[in-house]
Amino acid sequence: MEMAKNNKHFYVTTPIYYANDIPHIGHIYSSLAADILARWYLLKKYRVFFLTGTDEHGRKIEKAAERKNLSPKKFVDQLAPQFKNAWRKFNINYNRFIRTTDPDHIKTAEIILRKIYEKGDIYPGEYEGFYCTECEAYFSEKELEKGKCPIHQKKVIKLKEQTYFFKLSKYKNQILELLENDFIRPEFRKREIINRVKEKLEDISISRKNLKWGIPLPFDKSHVCYVWIEALLNYLSGIGYIKNKKHFQVFWPADVQIIGKDILWFHAVIWPALLFSVNIDLPKKIFAHGWWTLNKEKISKSRGNVVSADELINIAGVDAVRYYLFSETPFGQDGDFDKNSLINRYNNELADKFGNLISRTTALIEKYGLKQNPNPLIKELNIKTIEMNMENLDFHQALKKVFNFIDICNTYIDQKKPWLTKNKSILYHLAENIRLVTIILWPFIPKSCEKISKNFHFSISLDETKKPLKIKRIKKFEAIFKKIDNF
Ligand code: MSP
Repeated sequence: MEMAKNNKHFYVTTPIYYANDIPHIGHIYSSLAADILARWYLLKKYRVFFLTGTDEHGRKIEKAAERKNLSPKKFVDQLAPQFKNAWRKFNINYNRFIRTTDPDHIKTAEIILRKIYEKGDIYPGEYEGFYCTECEAYFSEKELEKGKCPIHQKKVIKLKEQTYFFKLSKYKNQILELLENDFIRPEFRKREIINRVKEKLEDISISRKNLKWGIPLPFDKSHVCYVWIEALLNYLSGIGYIKNKKHFQVFWPADVQIIGKDILWFHAVIWPALLFSVNIDLPKKIFAHGWWTLNKEKISKSRGNVVSADELINIAGVDAVRYYLFSETPFGQDGDFDKNSLINRYNNELADKFGNLISRTTALIEKYGLKQNPNPLIKELNIKTIEMNMENLDFHQALKKVFNFIDICNTYIDQKKPWLTKNKSILYHLAENIRLVTIILWPFIPKSCEKISKNFHFSISLDETKKPLKIKRIKKFEAIFKKIDNF
């Protein structure tokens, strides 16, 4: 096995997105979750590596490029920036944006495929089955619904071709043992996968002969690797498997791999088997989140109901979206996107509760000043349990606790009436609480929190929450979250 990593390093990944998709709310959701988690570990002073990117090989891309009369590489070169731009707009601060056409990814895939082959886990044969180009996945006749792909309800292609198989079935017991050991989160997704593995785990076809756009198998260049197999290997290439061995040893295994529930089989079954085969440590946790619908309908390009990055931002700004997506629905459950509830949450929670607490408190501090003294409210914010929530990716609970605390602070200001008493000690408690809340909310709403911390002159780190607030003066801070009236 590879060397065990030092525990002050944190490696989080998102799925790599099909380059020909328009970045939409679903993709943004996976990446925002990873960004929030990465920022949380930055708060804890970890060395963090956050990987995201695009999935650029396969029949789907090849077909789309043909329609545009472009070579697949030219086509994906034009597309990858769409995702980068969307991530920039949402303040998604990844460390590497991997593209599966990157030379080091291709090299990594070749090395790993050769290792699996040399281990004796790949053998030639003939495959007969049905292929859905949208999923880039094979189905048996039994799995089809009325002869169509059960996911996309689209026509499938009947394939009978020479292929190479990977001995997935050989790893059945190891996979089952792993799945019983809390590899998959949330817990409720685990049983379904375990049952599926117990029911049937067959060897899988891992190559295509009649496809050009892919990574050739290193031991038989007349085949290209099935896109899902090489796509999974991005998690190794992205962290430096061949480009920077030291880096790889420091960060691997991944701490959390965030994916959507639709791609759990690939990540919880096929991915571990590949790693078992080459004797590389497994990621510590695979977290499958739910799906967002729009007016209860599936979001898809063909339905034309894609909520794009710009549309989302134009509603109430980036931080409003970041807050909404993780406060509206527990991470792991499905959610239904609704513009009005986004605005309501922004108005009621960010503007009225948090924003007002800040503007009321800072206006009074500007007039009357502060006096450092022990803060009786601090015990109401249990940072330790919030830390546990964050580490379990229970973002929803963490936010709930923070906003309950903000309610407590708003009640405190109403009851203590510092505008009458001019009590500088009360104002100090409030300022200190705002600071604590700002630090904890930073992963969720980074730009707003950075503005607040600048005004209050404190730095954003969890260590700071253990020390008392030192400053004496704070300037009045008007509406950080401007309410949206007409909608
Ligand atoms: N390319 C593969 C992943 C390979 S990872 C080695 C893929 N790409 S995808 O672009 O189709 O999907 C990427 C991610 O977006 C998945 O985690 C998927 O679950 C997520 N979402 C796409 N639409 C979604 C919603 N409507 N809601 C929430 N997430 C969804 O699969």
